[in-house]
Amino acid sequence: MNTYGRYPVVLRKGRGMKVWSSDGKENLDFVAGVAVNILGHCHPRVVVAIQKQSQRLLHVSNYYYIEPQIKLAKLLVENSFADKIFFCNSGAEAVEAAIKLARKYSKEKNGPEHFEIVTAKNSFHGRTLAALTATGQEKLQKGFEPLVPGFKYVPFNDIDALGKIITENTCAVLLEPIQGEGGVRLPDMDYLKKVRGLCDEKNLLLIFDEVQTGMGRTGKLFAYEHFGVTPDIMTIAKGLGGGVPIGAMLATDRVASAFQPGNHASTFGGNPLVCAAAVATIETLLEDGFILDQCNRMSAYFMERLEELKEAFPKLIKEVRGKGLLIGMELTKEGDSIVKACLEQGMLINCTAGNILRFIPPLIIQRKDIDQLMNVLKEVFSGLS
Ligand SMILES: Cc1ncc(COP(=O)(O)O)c(C=O)c1O
Repeated sequence: MNTYGRYPVVLRKGRGMKVWSSDGKENLDFVAGVAVNILGHCHPRVVVAIQKQSQRLLHVSNYYYIEPQIKLAKLLVENSFADKIFFCNSGAEAVEAAIKLARKYSKEKNGPEHFEIVTAKNSFHGRTLAALTATGQEKLQKGFEPLVPGFKYVPFNDIDALGKIITENTCAVLLEPIQGEGGVRLPDMDYLKKVRGLCDEKNLLLIFDEVQTGMGRTGKLFAYEHFGVTPDIMTIAKGLGGGVPIGAMLATDRVASAFQPGNHASTFGGNPLVCAAAVATIETLLEDGFILDQCNRMSAYFMERLEELKEAFPKLIKEVRGKGLLIGMELTKEGDSIVKACLEQGMLINCTAGNILRFIPPLIIQRKDIDQLMNVLKEVFSGLS
């Protein structure tokens, strides 16, 4: 259906940072399937895990235990705040699961009037109806009303506004630790800690949507680690499967206990094939911390080179910001023509929120890849001014 504004290119093959189009042209990929391919395209360990699992067992049902899902749940529990995991197939589904769990827990614990969830303006949580309602962007909601009842919005990074909007009906606060689709917006370092404090004081659940920021994207396995706070519930997807569709909703034992058999489910959620790919992805990511180190080193270099561009093009570039390899460059004009010009020169980049160039490459990126992009960006920017 006509749901995507696609570029006139057919991509056929990928390895590491590179993707080739059907005409044989080589491209460097700074989009990575929108922050999905954290280990690059077709990482050998992920490919082998998929090959092996596909010969053993593709799908059964969540009526039974399966080894790859057990292994994956264990890895996630050992490396996060969480005690329990629900597996699904996408980010939006993980958000739906989080909303359901928060409502169920709060109603049982605090009474049936506790159902409202506060989210941030300019946030992004997905396209299914409740996730879309949670998304604080009217332009994305327009035409799909009536939306799901029980959501309120406050400006991101404004603790006073959050304090004021909480009522006796509030059950949870849902935030991206760093807003991704909304334009790579970082909060003040103490904001999330204050939010945690407020949630504790008012007996509310704190939900972090780490669909985009999780799985090493910001230089730590999960972005909440930068801010010294833990949520009660967290959603992840994108990078989790190293390229295959899998999402997860993580929670503490206390909160997860609100779900009983029959309360929530997914036919494909956490099936053997995707879990095997996700296990290979996380194991590779965590091995010796090598890839996270590489992400942080390349982040510093990337930002430095973008700052140089900002100095060279002060009228065009307003700000460079980001964490790890979730980097945004705010322009004073719309960015789509720049994305197209870069594509013509073999560089896949993304633009979000109209005027923010977003760079979300695989975490295995090297200096030479960044240098190549800088040469192209310089040329494209020069052509504009
Ligand atoms: C923070 C966040 N939450 C949820 C989603 C929705 O994920 P999906 O497209 O897998 O449904 C996205 C997608 O960009 C996201 O960035």
